[in-house]
Amino acid sequence: MSDIEQLVARATAEFSGIGDAALLEQAKARYLGKSGSVTELLKGLGKLDPAARKDAGAAINSAKERIESALNARREALRHAALEAQLKAEALDITLPGRGLPTGGLHPVTRTLERIEALFRAIGFDVADGPEIEDDFHNFTALNTPENHPARSMHDTFYLENAPGLLLRTHTSPIQVRYMETHKPPIRIIAPGRVYRVDSDATHSPMFHQVEGLWIDEEVSFADLKGVFTDFLRNFFEKPDLRTRFRPSFFPFTEPSAEIDMSCVFCDGNGCRVCSQTGWLEIAGSGMVHPNVLRHVGIDSEKYIGFAFGMGPDRLTMLRYGVNDLRLFFDGDLRFLQQFK
Ligand code: PHE
Repeated sequence: MSDIEQLVARATAEFSGIGDAALLEQAKARYLGKSGSVTELLKGLGKLDPAARKDAGAAINSAKERIESALNARREALRHAALEAQLKAEALDITLPGRGLPTGGLHPVTRTLERIEALFRAIGFDVADGPEIEDDFHNFTALNTPENHPARSMHDTFYLENAPGLLLRTHTSPIQVRYMETHKPPIRIIAPGRVYRVDSDATHSPMFHQVEGLWIDEEVSFADLKGVFTDFLRNFFEKPDLRTRFRPSFFPFTEPSAEIDMSCVFCDGNGCRVCSQTGWLEIAGSGMVHPNVLRHVGIDSEKYIGFAFGMGPDRLTMLRYGVNDLRLFFDGDLRFLQQFK
C-alpha cells in the first residue's frame, strides 16, 4: 500500500475510534489542518517534476476527499449518538398509569332541586331567587305576619347582631314579595333556596331548603293548586297513583290555607314506620295568597288572585332516596355523598 493509501486508512481508523466531537476536530487538524499530514503532502508537490506532479496531485486530492468524507461521516455519527442519548435521558414514561382526577358529584338535594325546577319549567313556571339575609319587611310584614306572631320570636329566628331589621330568612316566601314588587301578573314562579330557623334534631336542621311556588293571574283557583301540586308529586316520585290531602291550616299570608299531605311513598298509604302508621306524609304548606299581601306589593287584589305553596325539598330527597337522618345532607361526609355520584 502506498504511503498515501496508508494515510487514508490511518485517518479513517483514527476517526472511527473517536467518541467525542472535540477530539474529532483535533484529529481533523492533524490531517487537514495548516500543518496536517495531507497539507504537508500538497506542499511537497512543488518539489516534484511536472510529469510526476500531476499524478501525485491527483492521488493526494483523492486521499484528501476520502479523509474529509470519513471525517464528515464520523461527525454525523457522533451528532446522531448525542441526540439519541439526549432523547433517552429526557424520555417520559407515558406508559405509567395516570394519577386520575377525582370527580365530585351533585349533592342529593341539588339533584332534587334540579328535578323540581325541570318539572315546573315544563308547565311554564320561571325560577326566581332572593337574598338569604332578609329584612323584616319582606320576611314578615309584607307577608301579613303580625308583630306578635311566634315566627318572629328570637327563639325561632336568627337575627343579625348590629344590623337591626335584618335576619336570616325563615322561609322562601319573601321571594314571592320581591318578585311581585318587580313583576306584573300573570306570575308563575318557583323559588328554591336555603332558609334558617332555630331548630335542630334528626328531622330539623338550623339551615334547610324550601321551594316556594306562586301563581298569580285573573282566574287561579284552589282547584288549580290541587291539580298543579298533585301532578308535580306524581311526576316527582314517578307514582301516578300517589294521592294528596289538603288539611285546613293557617298561614298569615294565605287565606284559606292548607297543609299538603301525600300518600306515603313507602307503603302507598297502608301505614308504615316512615309515615308513623298514618299512611300520610306532610310535604308542604299552601293556600290562596292573602289580599293584604297583594296590596303590599301594589297588585290589584280585586282583579288578581292566586295560590302559593312552600315545600321542603330536603324531605323530598329523604323520601326519594330512603335517607333517614336529615343531618346527613349537611355533614359533608364523603362516604354518604359518594353514594349519589
Ligand atoms: N312559608 C311557609 C312556611 O315556611 C310555607 C308556605 C308557603 C305556606 C306558601 C303557604 C304558602 O312554613
